Amino acid sequence: MYKIIAGAAVLLALAFTARQPLPKGSLERGKKVYATNCLACHQADGSGVPNLNPTLAKTPQVTGDRQKLINIILKGLDEEIEINGESFSNPMPSQAHLSDQEIADVLTYVRNSFGNKGTAVSAAMVTTERKKM
Ligand code: HEC
Repeated sequence: MYKIIAGAAVLLALAFTARQPLPKGSLERGKKVYATNCLACHQADGSGVPNLNPTLAKTPQVTGDRQKLINIILKGLDEEIEINGESFSNPMPSQAHLSDQEIADVLTYVRNSFGNKGTAVSAAMVTTERKKM
């Protein structure tokens, strides 16, 4: 009997981790933040502009480590990077004027748009990274 209950608990836990629902409203809010603060450079479909602004579709920066991603938004980026065999060296300005919640929403949005599928970014994670600056 105990084994059955334990097994059911494990299955339930697995089902919950697999689903990982995004925070309510984050995609809608993030889309608005994106339209005002990122779209001009990275384009509505996240495809970027050849040789100027890199794509946000399935890049290691967008889909990978969330701490590093948050820091790109807080500090901007000014280094030679290569994405899909194309190199970029145009600087991206810091977006630190955005609130922690706005950064969380816009990153949750880009991590779940343009063919990306990722976990959410929370405002608390952004607060932690901003304190280190
Ligand atoms: C003025 C144009 C501009 C704006 C505005 C801008 N970016 Fe960028 N972004 C760039 C450039 C240029 C790079 C490449 C920087 C480099 O090579 O060092 C970049 C790089 C990135 C990267 C890492 C590389 C990649 O493509 O995955 C991410 C992630 C990113 N931007 C997200 C955003 C988000 C989210 C916003 C809005 C909050 C934003 N950017 C606003 C121009 C911009």
